[in-house]
Amino acid sequence: MNIIGSVSRIIPDGSFPEVIEPMVDASDPNDKQLVDEAARLRDQLTRYNYNYYVLDDPLISDAEYDRLLRRLQQLESERPEIRTADSPTQRVGAPPLSQFAQVRHTVAMLSLDNVFDAAEFAEFDRRVRRKLQTNEDLEYACEPKLDGVAVSLIYQDGVLVCGATRGDGMTGEDITANVRTVASVPLRLRGNNLPELLTVRGEVYMPLHGFEKLNQHARAEGQKVFVNPRNAAAGSLRQLDSRITARRPLAMSAYGIGEVRGWQLPPTHVEILHALQDWGFALNGLVATATGVVQCEDYYAKVIACRGQLDYDIDGIVYKVNALALQEKLGFVARAPRWAIARKFPAQEAMTRLLDVEFQVGRTGAITPVARLEPVFVGGVTVSNATLHNHDEIQRLGIRLGDQVIVRRAGDVIPQIVRAAQSDGDTGNATRIIEFPKQCPVCGSDIERAEDEAVARCAGGLYCPAQRKEAIKHFASRRAMDIDGLGDRLVEQLVDNGLVNDPADLYSLTVEQLAGLERMAEKSAQNLLAALNASRVTTFPRFLYALGIREVGEVTAAALAEHFGTLEKLRKARIQDFVQVGGIKGVGTATAVALQDYLRSGVSPSEAQGEDLANWLTAARIRGITGKIARALATEFNTLEALRAARVDDMVYTHKSRIDGVGPVVAQHVVTFFQQKHNLEVVDKLCSSAGIHWPAGVSAKAVSQPLAGQTWVLTGTLQAMSREQAKQHLQSLGARVAGTVSSKTDVLVAGSDPGSKLAKATALNIAIFDEQKLMQMLDTYREQ
Ligand code: IVH
Repeated sequence: MNIIGSVSRIIPDGSFPEVIEPMVDASDPNDKQLVDEAARLRDQLTRYNYNYYVLDDPLISDAEYDRLLRRLQQLESERPEIRTADSPTQRVGAPPLSQFAQVRHTVAMLSLDNVFDAAEFAEFDRRVRRKLQTNEDLEYACEPKLDGVAVSLIYQDGVLVCGATRGDGMTGEDITANVRTVASVPLRLRGNNLPELLTVRGEVYMPLHGFEKLNQHARAEGQKVFVNPRNAAAGSLRQLDSRITARRPLAMSAYGIGEVRGWQLPPTHVEILHALQDWGFALNGLVATATGVVQCEDYYAKVIACRGQLDYDIDGIVYKVNALALQEKLGFVARAPRWAIARKFPAQEAMTRLLDVEFQVGRTGAITPVARLEPVFVGGVTVSNATLHNHDEIQRLGIRLGDQVIVRRAGDVIPQIVRAAQSDGDTGNATRIIEFPKQCPVCGSDIERAEDEAVARCAGGLYCPAQRKEAIKHFASRRAMDIDGLGDRLVEQLVDNGLVNDPADLYSLTVEQLAGLERMAEKSAQNLLAALNASRVTTFPRFLYALGIREVGEVTAAALAEHFGTLEKLRKARIQDFVQVGGIKGVGTATAVALQDYLRSGVSPSEAQGEDLANWLTAARIRGITGKIARALATEFNTLEALRAARVDDMVYTHKSRIDGVGPVVAQHVVTFFQQKHNLEVVDKLCSSAGIHWPAGVSAKAVSQPLAGQTWVLTGTLQAMSREQAKQHLQSLGARVAGTVSSKTDVLVAGSDPGSKLAKATALNIAIFDEQKLMQMLDTYREQ
């Protein structure tokens, strides 16, 4: 491999940032203690981080991790000189840059040639063998082609000193501060015998569940959504403010090296990958070797079969001649190596016609437009519906009924319309505008949209049968009141027949009323009443969650229950009891800095006050300052003089939660919920006539569920307990125990003689526990 030349970075002083070593007085015992504690914390946190993000095998709880991190932050802020470049505190992001510096790659970052079918791949293989003058089957390293952004990372004596984009292959941008925030990028390499200098090449990408969450959040805030995970990853890495990057769910997987010094190259590419793994990099779980084209085809088939279950987008397979000596013989053509090829997958996008748009009403009244499509085969399934998310999304897409549209499907993500292929309006074919309804399609109430929200909602509340049904389904669901036998279909009948208007009505149902319903025999009616009866005794967190207050999920419900202790206290709580708020809503660092720059640029009037100040600020069209923010700034600071004197910290919106995980939005929803008369009536009915209660002394902690939200699967034989017992233990900790492995599985517990589930979990990169590890975990939670 061509690994020559020296590292150079085109930054003002032309050198790497120094790896700062602690400069403290080691003879002072206090200093020594502090330095030792910081070093210990750094090591611990680095190990916990590695276990969590690279091995997917957490050693401690998130809360404990945060506690240790805060302690290290405190030590480092007391004594900034002990801070090191590889400290885990450096992952939270650094102050914004004004532009990226450039980095010259000492070993060029090449691209790959593509093939699109088996015949083209066979032709590539023939070409390679001809060049090598061999008839033998070649061994290839096979890797999924991750759909993200290529990065190059430089480690000097094991410490990350530079991260860069590919750029034009020769020169990229210096994104060191950004890559430091990516949790699976090691800040320091693990192990001994490290190369003096190592350049690692890999892909930064955004896992699909993180991508979905990010877009959901953006949608709820009325912000721009990302078209796909690759754009999201690229946009996140291109932030000048690395604190923004730090909040993005990015991951990195290493697939090769560039320049190395002080390390003997192994004979094969796969061994390089294993060395990278030993040094602490995440290696993709599907990496394998295959000999000859037939095995390469098998690998292709295997990967394509599980593609839909992966938590990241891949757009092909990369085959690399495994032996480095052969790679060297083959060399390069133009910008691509002769020893590697990308076999691209067929498109995950397809064209079809938008037939209609229906508007669904959710539990909180949110109106979601759903596209009905002419069925089309894409990414391995037939798609006939796609979500359009909200009104802004329809506008952004600029689509009309009858249009040809491009549909995209990636992994488990709900199919989406990416863009209009062409509007038949242009070709003379009549297409119709999509009218967003002004009235709820179910109850006819007005549809409202709050000023700062992207989501439009039916104002009918529990008057709206659609919302009522969803609220009751949620109330009865397993993680809420857990009412066995009250399925969706039954709830719909109960509401349609006027038997149930709110959750409290469930508790006055009779066998006669139920037995009259479709598919409901007397026996099942009795069972349902027994289940309702059993649900009267519950826990405070479950009850709170069951009420369906906006943004109050299980974790938040548990935190609220623990903090307030009683329903009475929670009902009386004000916003201030949840959060301490500072700064102006909607103002982030970038906006505050832009505002300050503007105010100091000398273009502002000498004075302005109150409404005048608000008007002037609005008219100035400073980036990020909307009319609403301008008014809020004028209210807060009153005079231009005061605004000019303000610090960034005074302007940037902050809130200090008094309760873990409860911010101002949740606080507002809870307070609003308990202000509404009909909610109070339902809550009163539930607690009095329906008789719902939770035994005193069962604190929120005692019922806290550390595995809530996780899906576990059991396979093989366990020694210490039966699988059924293990299942019950896991369920008591909040886990869902499923029968089959899928991409949604968090952990597979494999006893002796495991079946095919183990192979599947391995292929899907799912955490695997043996019995010993399971017992250790159960013990840990038992002690708490
Ligand atoms: S190897 C000399 N391996 O695909 C070989 N690339 O056009 C250079 N990519 O920009 C790349 N997964 O970002 C390689 N397992 C993988 C990859 C991979 C994704 C990207 C890479 C590069 C592009 C190739």
